[in-house]
Amino acid sequence: MGRRNKITVVGAGNVGATAAHWLASKELGDVVLVDIVEGVPQGKALDLAETAPIEGFDVRLTGANGYDDTNGSDVVIITAGLPRKPGMSRDDLLKTNAEIVGKVVDEVSRRSPDAVLIIVSNPLDAMCQVAFKRSGFPKHRVIGMAGVLDSARMRCFLAEALNVSVENVTAFVLGGHGDTMVALPRYSTCAGIPVTELLPPEQIEAIVKRTANGGAEIVALLKTGSAYYAPSAAAVEMTEAILKDKKKILPCAAYLEGEYGVNGLYVGVPCKLGAQGLEQIIEINLTAEERIALQKSAASVQELVDVLGI
Ligand code: NAI
Ligand code: 2OP
Repeated sequence: MGRRNKITVVGAGNVGATAAHWLASKELGDVVLVDIVEGVPQGKALDLAETAPIEGFDVRLTGANGYDDTNGSDVVIITAGLPRKPGMSRDDLLKTNAEIVGKVVDEVSRRSPDAVLIIVSNPLDAMCQVAFKRSGFPKHRVIGMAGVLDSARMRCFLAEALNVSVENVTAFVLGGHGDTMVALPRYSTCAGIPVTELLPPEQIEAIVKRTANGGAEIVALLKTGSAYYAPSAAAVEMTEAILKDKKKILPCAAYLEGEYGVNGLYVGVPCKLGAQGLEQIIEINLTAEERIALQKSAASVQELVDVLGI
C-alpha cells in the first residue's frame, strides 16, 4: 500500500495557513499545521478539511499546538516568527525570531530526522543559518524560500510591461532576501528572448527596483501584515519539486561553500530541487558589477549572522 507524503507547516499565520491551503488543493500530502496559539492551527486545519468535499482533495489535515503529530514528515515548512513591532529594532527581531526558529527546529528535526526543511521566517537568510546549525542536517536538507517569491514578483512586473503571459517570462535573481537582492535582467527572458532586448533600460531598471521593494510595497498596502499569497505559493512550489523529484531549477537560499565566492553562508542562488532536497547549485559567470552586488548582498547577510554569533 502506498504512503501519502507528510508535510508539516509550523506557524499557522498568514503564510503557514495559506501554504496549507495550496498543499491540500494540490494534494501534495497530509498536512500538519502547528502553532503556539491555542485553537488556531486546529481551527484552520478543520476549516480546510471541510473544504475538501467541495474542492475534491483527499488529504488529511491536522492542527496542533505540539509536535507529536509531525513525526516522520517528508518536508517541514517553517513560517513561525514575529513581525517587527513598534520600538523593536531589526536586531531585536532578529534575535527573537532566531530563538523561535531555533526551538522549532529542535522539535521538528528530532521527530523528522530525514525531512527537508524549507525556511520562510525572516530575516530569511539568517534564519536558514540558524536552522542549518541547530538541526545538524546536511546542507541539502535545509533550504530557504525567498528567490522563488522575488523572481515571481519580477516575472509578474515583466509580463505586465510586455503584455504577455506570465508563463512566457522567466526571471533570474541572486543574493539575500531584501534590499540588496541582485536581479539579473540579462538572464531574464520572454519566450527565451532576454528582456534586455525587449524593454528599454529605464523600464527594466524600474522593474528591478520594484522587485527589490516588493515586500515593502505589499506591507504599505496591507498595513497590518506582510505578503502571504505569493510567499506561501513559492514555498509550496519548492515542496512540490522535492516531493515529486522534479529536478526543478528554482532560486533558493542555500548554504554556500565557495560557490559564487561565498563561504559558509546562506545566500540565494539557482538550485536544482529534487527528492534529495537541494541537489545542485547552478553556478554561472557574473560580470564584475554583478559579482560586486552579490558580495554586498552576502555581506549584509553576514552582518546578521555575526549579530547572532553563529
Ligand atoms: P503571521 O504573524 O501571520 O504568522 C506567524 C505565526 O507564527 C503566528 O501564527 C504565530 O503564532 C506563530 N508563532 C510564533 N511563535 C511560534 C512558535 N514558537 N512556534 C510555532 N508558531 C509560532 O506571519 P506571516 O505573515 O505568516 O509570516 C511568517 C514569517 O514569514 C514572518 O517572519 C515573515 O516575515 C516571513 N515571511 C518571509 C517571506 C520570505 O520571502 N522568506 C515572505 C513572507 C513572509
Ligand atoms: C516579503 O518579501 C515580508 O519577506 C516578505 O513579502
